[in-house]
Amino acid sequence: MIAHHAATPEPAAANGEEPVSTTYQQLKDKIASGEAIVGIVGLGYVGLPLAHALHRGGLPVLGFDIDPEKIEMLGRGENYLRHLGPEMTGDLAGSDRFEATADFSRLGEADVVIVCVPTPLGRHQEPDLSYVIDSARAIGRCLRPGQLVTLESTTYPRTTRDEFLPAMLEEASARGVKLTPGDDLFVAFSPEREDPGRKDHSTSTIPKLVGGIDDRSTELAAMLYRRGVSQVVEVESAEVAEAAKLLENIFRAVNIALVNEMKMILDRMDIDIWQVVRAASTKPFGFMPFYPGPGLGGHCIPIDPFYLTWKAKEVGHATRFIELAGAINTSMPHWVVEKLSLALNEHAKPVRGSKVLVIGLAYKPDIDDTRESPAFELIELLMDLGAEVQYHDPHVPVAPKVRKHDLRMKSVELTADSVGGFDAVLIATDHKRVDYSLLARHASLVVDTRNAMREYASDMGARLVKA
Ligand SMILES: NC(=O)c1ccc[n+]([C@@H]2O[C@H](COP(=O)([O-])OP(=O)(O)OC[C@H]3O[C@@H](n4cnc5c(N)ncnc54)[C@H](O)[C@@H]3O)[C@@H](O)[C@H]2O)c1
Repeated sequence: MIAHHAATPEPAAANGEEPVSTTYQQLKDKIASGEAIVGIVGLGYVGLPLAHALHRGGLPVLGFDIDPEKIEMLGRGENYLRHLGPEMTGDLAGSDRFEATADFSRLGEADVVIVCVPTPLGRHQEPDLSYVIDSARAIGRCLRPGQLVTLESTTYPRTTRDEFLPAMLEEASARGVKLTPGDDLFVAFSPEREDPGRKDHSTSTIPKLVGGIDDRSTELAAMLYRRGVSQVVEVESAEVAEAAKLLENIFRAVNIALVNEMKMILDRMDIDIWQVVRAASTKPFGFMPFYPGPGLGGHCIPIDPFYLTWKAKEVGHATRFIELAGAINTSMPHWVVEKLSLALNEHAKPVRGSKVLVIGLAYKPDIDDTRESPAFELIELLMDLGAEVQYHDPHVPVAPKVRKHDLRMKSVELTADSVGGFDAVLIATDHKRVDYSLLARHASLVVDTRNAMREYASDMGARLVKA
């Protein structure tokens, strides 16, 4: 059970200076002394490691999630995010400074509330802020003077000020609680730059942007994050922080599209894009390598850019780079399937009736995250053409239901016999735990979208096709 501390005495206003807001000063003192209780709403890929980082920084942390299974697992010290390891949840479960709960009426106990809930797209590619607004309302129902609330969910500029804050204030005001932002309520946006599976960085080492709706909010939020993150960068406003996150992800989406387009052109000219990227990467400035693939995956890059596309319409502007990148990236699974069918054709086989093994269901190597993974679309496109498709993924034993697909499949074992039984193997994701030499020895045909078979290219000859 997290201990609650008495409020600090009211600070005196300095002579001739603006009186210091009591609640501001109290909250500042609590953060500085490590007594501020941090409530984290949404304990997923972003919220859970953040809870751990702030807890490690000495703060008491109260985690909130609507998923009771996650709460129960955290109580037992188990980690539902396997790539983060059991030590993280073991540390939290064994501490009297951490609790996880689905009881949102306890939000008032927190001095700081951090929101890390999903921001998906709706059916027509429009932003779905329902999770963010639900969270704002839940916070508003418990809001009291002297709280700092930060939003971490990726979203379009002005969400924090124009949508998140009003939803909180409206709920608070319905209870007769009137709060003045900048005086007794502090609100900031701080984007998450988590990259699941990355070993050289973690939540606490990735520099964190913080932008408040006013200077005090920025200051308090930066102080808070400094307790768990080694480098905090204060920016001019919540809007700068919101837009910076989108720029980062749009930059990736556009550059991935560029290299995918180069791949399709160079393929016709019989030039290997992987060799070209490697050659260009020797330039010590002005070039950053991006790699081609079968399409975009993950919760961020395929989705976030369209938050700006939607918002840009409001100011009468088209996001042409984003839409062009989106069109190229979403066409990639179709291009890969065409390459596969041409490769089968070379072996005198039609796609219909061919047995195809897809390697890798997760959207990137060495993790089990399947959100927006292009492997699902590859499988469905091949099935639509009449192929008999199975998959192998050491991290995803059973295909989960995802936003657009419900495959109801299980990972097959990778053995000499199983591989030999397929007409083609399609590498969608290059997990380290896959035995590529086994594929090189036993597959009749490998279509490789990740350059995973580079070591075996000369031995395989026409049995290997890059796509
Ligand atoms: N996953 C990443 O690598 C990553 C990186 C940067 C930014 N982001 C952004 O961070 C945000 C969260 O993403 P994520 O990957 O952690 O999502 P996630 O799906 O892994 O986790 C979200 C959690 O929120 C919970 N939740 C949903 N509605 C809730 C509510 N009303 N109250 C409390 N909990 C609720 C869900 O049960 C889930 O546990 C998104 O905006 C995403 O774009 C994610």
